[in-house]
This record gives sequence, structure tokens and C-alpha cells, in this order.
Amino acid sequence: MFEPIRLSHTISGTGGGLLFCLDASQPQQALVPYRGQVQAVVMDPPFMTGEVFTRKRAFGAQGWRAGKPVVSLKGYPDRFDTPEIYQAMLRGLLENARELLAPTGVCYLHLDWRASAMARLLCDEVFGAGNFLNEIIWSYESGGRSRKYFSRKHDTILLYARSPEYRFSLDRVPIPREGVRHNHLKRQTDENGRVYGSVVVGGKEYRYYDDQPTYPGDVWTDISHLQQRDPERTGYPTQKPLKLLDRMLRPVVDPGDLVCDLCCGSGTALEAARRLGCGFIGVDSSREAIAVSENRLRLQDLSVHMACDASPAALYGSFDAASGLVVLTGFEAEHPAFPRTAEPFAALEAWGCGPIVGETLHLQHICSRTFRMPELAPMGFVRTETYPLGVLTVDAAGRRQVFRWTD
Ligand SMILES: C[S@@+](CC[C@H](N)C(=O)[O-])C[C@H]1O[C@@H](n2cnc3c(N)ncnc32)[C@H](O)[C@@H]1O
Repeated sequence: MFEPIRLSHTISGTGGGLLFCLDASQPQQALVPYRGQVQAVVMDPPFMTGEVFTRKRAFGAQGWRAGKPVVSLKGYPDRFDTPEIYQAMLRGLLENARELLAPTGVCYLHLDWRASAMARLLCDEVFGAGNFLNEIIWSYESGGRSRKYFSRKHDTILLYARSPEYRFSLDRVPIPREGVRHNHLKRQTDENGRVYGSVVVGGKEYRYYDDQPTYPGDVWTDISHLQQRDPERTGYPTQKPLKLLDRMLRPVVDPGDLVCDLCCGSGTALEAARRLGCGFIGVDSSREAIAVSENRLRLQDLSVHMACDASPAALYGSFDAASGLVVLTGFEAEHPAFPRTAEPFAALEAWGCGPIVGETLHLQHICSRTFRMPELAPMGFVRTETYPLGVLTVDAAGRRQVFRWTD
């Protein structure tokens, strides 16, 4: 039978990435080993909107397949009693970011009109005004419009270097020049039929050919927010588009570098980092965020540092040590938001199994729901040798539990 256990907070896959459920605005012992090693720190913290965000999540295979039923869950609070409390939180995040960065590294801080002025001064203080690189304007069309003032249609992303040795390669983010209009350029065609825009400065002609790329400035208008039905969407509130994080990371990281997001939410920056061949550390104070990131990054290659939940679920099934076959036959987890359905595993969103070695569950088999594969296979094979078998379950509210098989 499967018996719930409290493991130390570590569950290991093969270790390509790390997730920590921590308050990243406080000094954290768990981050000490990575000091001075991170090439890019990304932070998209609460913006001080005064809202409490909720998230909607598909429930069971039926929900993942058809969009219904869904559960409505806690997202994260973006409420601070005073601006001073918010400022202290931001300062803590920035100080941790600075400690993590390698001398060649950079830090991105993503905010909007509410806190960007305060943040700019804080960043100057923490990183040094001389390390300021950019105030990037991410401009978009989505969101409401105002009649009382000009509609607020941009976020501000501050970019600071850790030191003058920072790395940055703009040529990795080319944009096709065709379609980009520069009204100050005179359009012409050369003797080979190539179209270009030209401008004469100080008697010298500068040519910009349509078939050569251009590069982004500090105002980005070509990346939109995720649409309601975008397949990238995880259901986590305020999720940013992968394309934005790719633009931010690509010029500053090489494959094999370490990227850290101190407010990782649904794990967008972590996924962008992984696609660029980087290792990653995701930190978030919300266990829902860690669960969403874990599912998004599909559990493998991950060490997740988060306590099991106090109210354990019940897991039923069997394990044949000789063949290594694990079969799940039922999963029960109570949550006020979970609807009643006939599906036996409706409340289970992901599971994995492997040997428990000391205080660590080493996942060998993992399975999580995706829009492409809404069903969860209830079987898996593992080699446990002499170690006990452990099964990790993640329910539809992101709650985790580890079970040990006992004969
Ligand atoms: C704007 S969301 C991040 C969204 C993310 N960029 C994405 O694409 O999904 C802000 C996140 O910061 C987290 N957060 C708030 N305060 C935190 C703190 N002190 N330490 C770590 N994470 C924090 C919240 O739980 C939330 O997930």
C-alpha cells in the first residue's frame, strides 16, 4: 500500500533546473551556493496593483480536453499595506539578485507605471547608477482605455549590469527590416535591384538594406500579450509571453549559463532559459506558482524544494518490485474548489515515481496532463534496486504529496 510520508523538501530528477518555494525578498540559505554564478536574473514581481489574483485551472482529463470543468484557485496577492512595505520587498529582491549575479551577468526588473520610478532609484542604489543599461518600454494594445488620461499601454523593464564586464550580444536578436518603416530614410534601389533606405549625415551616406536585419531599440512594440486561448497559457495570472523572455535572455546568455527568476510565477523565464540551453533556478513564494512551473517544465530535469502538504491525499495502487511495474488505481484529494466527477484520477494533475534514496525521491518516471495529452497514464516502470519506491502526486490545486510503497 501507499503510505504518505514527509520527505525533506527535495525531489530530484536529473537536475537541469531547480525550483524553490521561498520568499526571495529575504536572505535565503538555499540560494547561497549559487552566489556569483548566475548570468541573468529576471524578476517580474507584483506591480502593487492592489489586486488579489486568482487562477483558473482545467480539472481532470475532461477539463484539459474540453476547457471544462475548471477549478478557481488562489493565484497570488499583489496587496501591500504601505508603499514602504512594497519598497522593502523590492529592495530585498534586488539585493538577492545582486548577490547571485556573476561579474558578467545582468538583471532585468519588470514593472509598470505604479512602481517603476521607485524601482529605478532602488536599482541605482543596489547595482550602482553606472551599471544602468536600459529602461525598456514593452508597449502593447491589450487592456482597457481611459478617457481621463492617455491610456497606459506599456510596462517598464529595467536592465542593469552587475559590473562593466557584462556580456551582451545584440546581433542575436535580429528583426527582419522589411515592414519596419523609418520615415527619415529615403527609399531607393541600388544597381543590383536591392531596396534600401538612406540618410546623409555630415556628407556621408548611410544605407540600410531591406534584406538585412535591424535590431531592437529600447521600445518594443512587436510582442503582444498572450491571447485568451493562446496554447502557451498555463492559467497562472499575469503570465508573460515566451517571446518577451526570449528577447530579454538571448543577448545575454550562452548555452550552459545559469538563469534565475526570483518571482518565477508560471515559469516563463525558466522555459525560455531551457530553450536557450541554460540551467535555471526558479524561486516563488507561492506554492501554486511552483506547482504550475513544475508541471510546465514537465517535472523531469528538476529538483523541487518545497514541503509536502499537511493534509495528505490518498493513493491506491500496486507495485511489483520484480518487474518494476507501478499501477495506480485511485487518487483522492479533498479541496473545496474541486468539482465532483466520475473520473477516478480527476484531481490528479501529475505524478512521478522512483527510488527514495536517503531524503530524496529520484523521479524516473513522470506523467503530467497537457492540452495535447489530457489523460494521465496510470502505469509506470521504475528500477528501485534495494531502495523503497516513492510516488509523488501533484493535485489540481498544486498540492504535493510523497507516498512510500510498503508491502
Ligand atoms: C507577476 S507574477 C510573475 C509571472 C511570471 N513572470 C510568469 O510569466 O508567469 C509575480 C510572482 O511573484 C511572486 N512573488 C511575490 N512576492 C514574492 C517574494 N517575496 N518572493 C518570491 N516570489 C514572490 C508571486 O507569487 C507571483 O507568482
